[in-house]
Amino acid sequence: MRSWLAKDARAHWSELIDRALRGEPQRVTRRGKGAVIFVREDEWLKLSRDADQKPSRAPERANIADRIAAIMDPIGGVDFDAGLAGKRILLVIGGGIAAYKSLDLIRRLRERGAAVRCILTKGAQQFVTPLAAASLAGSRAHTDLFDREDEADIGHIRLARDADAIVVAPATANLMAKIACGHADDLASTVLLATTLPILIAPAMNVRMWLHPATKRNLATLTRDGVAVVGPNDGAMAEAEHGPGRMAEPLEIVAALERLLGAGAEARAERPLAGKRVLVTSGPTLEPIDPVRYIANRSSGRQGHAIAAAAAAAGAAVTLVSGPVGIPDPPGVATVHVESAREMLAAVENALPADIAVFAAAVADWRTEAAAAEKIKKDGKRLPALNLVENPDILATVARLKSGRPPLVVGFAAETEKVIEHARAKLKKKGCDLIVANDVAPGTGVMGGTSNTVHLVTRDEVETWPTLDKDEVARRLVLRFARMTAPVAS
Ligand code: C5P
Repeated sequence: MRSWLAKDARAHWSELIDRALRGEPQRVTRRGKGAVIFVREDEWLKLSRDADQKPSRAPERANIADRIAAIMDPIGGVDFDAGLAGKRILLVIGGGIAAYKSLDLIRRLRERGAAVRCILTKGAQQFVTPLAAASLAGSRAHTDLFDREDEADIGHIRLARDADAIVVAPATANLMAKIACGHADDLASTVLLATTLPILIAPAMNVRMWLHPATKRNLATLTRDGVAVVGPNDGAMAEAEHGPGRMAEPLEIVAALERLLGAGAEARAERPLAGKRVLVTSGPTLEPIDPVRYIANRSSGRQGHAIAAAAAAAGAAVTLVSGPVGIPDPPGVATVHVESAREMLAAVENALPADIAVFAAAVADWRTEAAAAEKIKKDGKRLPALNLVENPDILATVARLKSGRPPLVVGFAAETEKVIEHARAKLKKKGCDLIVANDVAPGTGVMGGTSNTVHLVTRDEVETWPTLDKDEVARRLVLRFARMTAPVAS
């Protein structure tokens, strides 16, 4: 491997690129730190081979030059040992006021050694200029799908391929809708449709747009398609409103990107559910008696929501089907809101397939045979009779699926007595692989509380955990699920 001081590399730019193109790794050091420039085994190597037969090596040179530029012209110094050293990031800037933060994001990415290339949508150009993005990125910013210069230089298909990941920040409601529906009517959406690279979106929009059912549907679709999401954060918005919708801060986006790229063994260990699809039910169900009354229970949804959040933090694509609760949707999770058991079952079936299904909801066992169309009147003589019928058992339905059964199906058992005995019976009756049993007798404070004492009951064993915070129970359960679904080493 040939080593260069940064200043010498600059003077011998052409030779360095030629050597790299020949497949010889080149090391460039700056203030004692270094990075290796090399032509990668996969498409880079192929490109360099092709390049030998081509009269012009301009695109390959431009690519390598991007990487070298990231090293030699850092803004504020590069930590070459950082997670993004040598990574190529395509940053799609959408049209929102948060676009100004994306300029800072470019700096942050480059500080960590990444080479950044930018696409600006038409809307983005109303807030920041291609020149500002290009100056900070150290490479030309792309704006048009039908740009002759662009197509000759790199082209939209190469833009969609020639990177390690794509970050969309800010991801406006419109951009999210376009990605979710597969639109390809400008450069950004075309590249996002043409790519197979990992995608991270940082949504930013007005709070009402974020909470709109259409955006929720799009978010659920994107998560299901494996798109990673960071933010949005809660806070004051440009329009003097308050709530979720602020774009995540640049450093939060960088951290999410490092996790997405599994940069380093440590990150991989923190993401034991990367690539897995997890379905979680949570909260109570409400079963209507008439238009104003319902049957419900005291479930707060805390444990189920914590599991969904922990699974997302462990890298899974998570769908949470939640009954009505008073706690917020967990970040980075596609949440579907339902009321009754039958709605919950439909949403669960809609969310399949999954690798892991966790049924933490306290589903009402019964509903009234038919909810009264009008409010039932008190006539002072006869008490109304509530005819109850049994609700579908969602857990048992999924655990007994003939085809498409998730490889790991987990149930919960909330009991007020003989906890383990009942859990064992439930495991068998429902056909699941694991029951997480807990004592919810009055006085334990589990129902609606923040801590939990659980017993893990499988066909072969019972394991009792100490009393833990529900978040900690969730984190430990997620690690257990990862172990139970990890491929068996041969
Ligand atoms: O039968 P029991 O309600 O005690 O079973 C508890 C487990 O079954 C929980 O995992 C709960 O989410 C699930 N369940 C369900 N659908 C029902 C009743 C319970 O998914 N109708």
